[in-house]
Amino acid sequence: MKPVSVLFICLGNICRSPTAEAVFTKLVDEAGFGEAIRIDSAGTAGFHVGARPDDRARETARSRGIAMDHLRARQFIPEDAEAFDYLLTMDRSNYEQVMAQCPPAMQERVHMFLDFAPEVAETEVPDPYYGGPEGFENVFDMVEAASRGLLDDIRSRHGLG
Ligand code: 4NP
Repeated sequence: MKPVSVLFICLGNICRSPTAEAVFTKLVDEAGFGEAIRIDSAGTAGFHVGARPDDRARETARSRGIAMDHLRARQFIPEDAEAFDYLLTMDRSNYEQVMAQCPPAMQERVHMFLDFAPEVAETEVPDPYYGGPEGFENVFDMVEAASRGLLDDIRSRHGLG
């Protein structure tokens, strides 16, 4: 069966969306769906293409037992809208950017990632780039909550397990 595909999207693809990629990948693997769900991330901007995730994101991930050193930034391309079933944006600005590049027939694939975490009060994962390490911890907590909700959604909509 064709895997369900998920693309996490932020601005630079070095802080929030690679964190989401790494956290969701671990959750999916632990649930035994590693073959059934394909996961990637991208940034709407190209400033950091080819770069590893930010040192602070990698440190936060390491402290929580999650691997993300192998990830490299890439830029979102309009073809991603055809290639992925779920396009999950971290904030409203990313959402607008992706919607503007997405053919109308594919726009229903685009969601704010935190829509999958109704228990989180915020609607956007805040950009931690210009702040301190606590911002990265906060991103991680939000991403973990939304990842659980996303996996539940995929399991029920796509009949997995
Ligand atoms: P991200 O964070 O979108 O979560 O990867 C940022 C990374 C880099 C920049 C802004 C946000 N920047 O301006 O370079």
